[in-house]
Amino acid sequence: MQIETLFDPATYTLTYVVFDPKTRDAVVIDPVLDYDPLASATSTRSLEKLESFIQKHELRLHYVLETHAHADHLSGSQYLKKRFGAKVGIGARIRDVQKVFRDIFDLPAAFPVDGSQFDRLFEDGEKFSAGALELEVIATPGHTPACVSYKIEDAVFTGDALFIEDYGTGRCDFPAGSASDLYTSVHERLYALPDATRVFVGHDYQPEGRELRAQTTIGVSKEKNVQLCAGTSREAFVQMRTARDATLAAPRLLYPSVQVNVDAGNLPRPHANGRRYLTVPLNLKQATDDDGTPR
Ligand SMILES: [Fe+2]
Repeated sequence: MQIETLFDPATYTLTYVVFDPKTRDAVVIDPVLDYDPLASATSTRSLEKLESFIQKHELRLHYVLETHAHADHLSGSQYLKKRFGAKVGIGARIRDVQKVFRDIFDLPAAFPVDGSQFDRLFEDGEKFSAGALELEVIATPGHTPACVSYKIEDAVFTGDALFIEDYGTGRCDFPAGSASDLYTSVHERLYALPDATRVFVGHDYQPEGRELRAQTTIGVSKEKNVQLCAGTSREAFVQMRTARDATLAAPRLLYPSVQVNVDAGNLPRPHANGRRYLTVPLNLKQATDDDGTPR
């Protein structure tokens, strides 16, 4: 198995191509569709890089795997699905996330909340193959209820559950997020893997300007993760995570990202004039008067 890492500096997202160099079987984890919020324009620059890599190495792309419905970038899954005929997969609890956001975005009643926009919905513990690659799904909810990690041989792709040890863990303040669930996911599930397991994270925010890092191990995380190491209690973690989340601003691309990603990376359907529009809810967290003024 070989792993190619791509980094999107605009959203600090790490995308992975995992492939078998002999058979050329491959999966992509968490691809990014570039989006400039000021111009309200998408671009496929990052996806074209990914596409060139896949073509250059003559890979057979079986799956595009999402670790969760991201809140900070739009998924590039549909582009890769069209180019390579890959299937798009995500954790089965995406249904819970779809239900929450159908209401927030006032999506049509016909918007499916059964996950049927995705080609595969993975249950906890499910094993599947992508040609010669054998994969296992580990449910790691907390950052969102639908978060999963993908284990392939000695590597686990943790999305936003577990980051590099000097940064910590993913935030848990999105709708239906839970710091206690994240503690269980990391402390009871990921830390039960062998210490030598390589961990590939979903973002690297390069704390204090250090070099980009995509990779750590379970052993190092258990020993040194600044927010959740082997000795951290559930109470201490939940208290720390909740206090920290209260200080965090909303992600820059929260609304554009989530409404596209709960629909498996499909852009909103065009209006009668042929243009597509994103919806941005107003004063979501505040009670308002009838005229929309915050109380
Ligand atoms: Fe995320």
